[in-house]
Amino acid sequence: MSQPFPIPVNEPLLDGNEKRYLVECIESGWVSSEGLFVAHFEEGLAAKVGRKHGIAVSNGSAALELGVAALGIGPGDEVILPTFTIISCASAVVHAGATPVLVDCDPHTWNMDVSQVEAKVTPRTRAIMVVHLYGLPVDMDPVLEIADKYGLKVIEDAAEMHGQAYRDRPCGSFGELSIFSFYANKHITTGEGGMILTDDDRLAEHCRSLRDLGFQARRRFVHEELGWNFRMSNLQAAVGVAQLERLDEFVARKRRMGKRYSALLEGIPALQLPVGSAAYADNIYWAYGVVLGEEFEFDAEQARALLAQHKIGTRPFFWPMHEQPVFQKMGLFKGEAYPNAEYIARRGLYLPSGLALTDKQIDYVARAVRKALC
Ligand SMILES: Cc1ncc(COP(=O)(O)O)c(C=O)c1O
Repeated sequence: MSQPFPIPVNEPLLDGNEKRYLVECIESGWVSSEGLFVAHFEEGLAAKVGRKHGIAVSNGSAALELGVAALGIGPGDEVILPTFTIISCASAVVHAGATPVLVDCDPHTWNMDVSQVEAKVTPRTRAIMVVHLYGLPVDMDPVLEIADKYGLKVIEDAAEMHGQAYRDRPCGSFGELSIFSFYANKHITTGEGGMILTDDDRLAEHCRSLRDLGFQARRRFVHEELGWNFRMSNLQAAVGVAQLERLDEFVARKRRMGKRYSALLEGIPALQLPVGSAAYADNIYWAYGVVLGEEFEFDAEQARALLAQHKIGTRPFFWPMHEQPVFQKMGLFKGEAYPNAEYIARRGLYLPSGLALTDKQIDYVARAVRKALC
């Protein structure tokens, strides 16, 4: 298939054992969810993150839906989460019948501003959903302290954070449960895919049951609870196992790519680059984002159009939850304002960041950015 842009925003690397393992699935006939690659993938990622259980599902959004449901969050409950994130986070809460409660993001790291969390705790708060974005983790210690103080659950959205750590503790190892996505732009991909990780045996069993329509071992077609078919196929897991074998190499490669971009783009007045290092982590540059300062007379959409003229694929930043028409129609977030999220949503974009990107392409993109912006 031809790419619309010579330099696409994302191109994965699939040149390890992916093809070999897929051929194994096809030759053995194990293509649905009952093949061995699913269990290998679950065990492999759980071991990497230091969790007891992995439950592979069809995508990261499904992992969030299932995780929220498995924690028993429902009508009357509130979940605190960042306004600056993908809609999957808030929609998992809304689909469960609970209420999302928002906090703004930090203007430098673009992650949730953890100093705003405590003020949002009410007697109805059941959980804090932390979402690590673009390559730097959320500052977890203050969140864990608040969760502990008020007896709240923590759901860790590590969809973009394979191979990252917070103060040497792997991302995906925090809270009651964490989730990952394996969409094609993630550090490891299965095409579409996701996983829930937890140390809690009962929660893991509940997630497995909900993933599988609530089938029961003793009487398969008799259901005590409504679930979903969120299963991952053996074909997807085969790709995941091959990708996981290379996670460390992929993370190192992403870090090199991010540093190269930063070295080439440094010094452009009013162009905000990703934070390279925080006190608690070094960036893994899942996606290389930039934010245009007010000095630029154009916004992110116009910058994207300029870069498209150079055949460079880009993506806009997320659009805040409180500005989503779908939630406004539901009467959510009325009158709420989160200026940092509103600002970066309009002035942020990310540059080609896929693992297949070459140094030559990064140099070309950086030159085009300078030409377009300076
Ligand atoms: C932070 C975050 N959470 C959740 C998801 C949802 O994952 P998926 O696309 O696999 O449904 C994504 C997707 O990219 C994401 O970036």
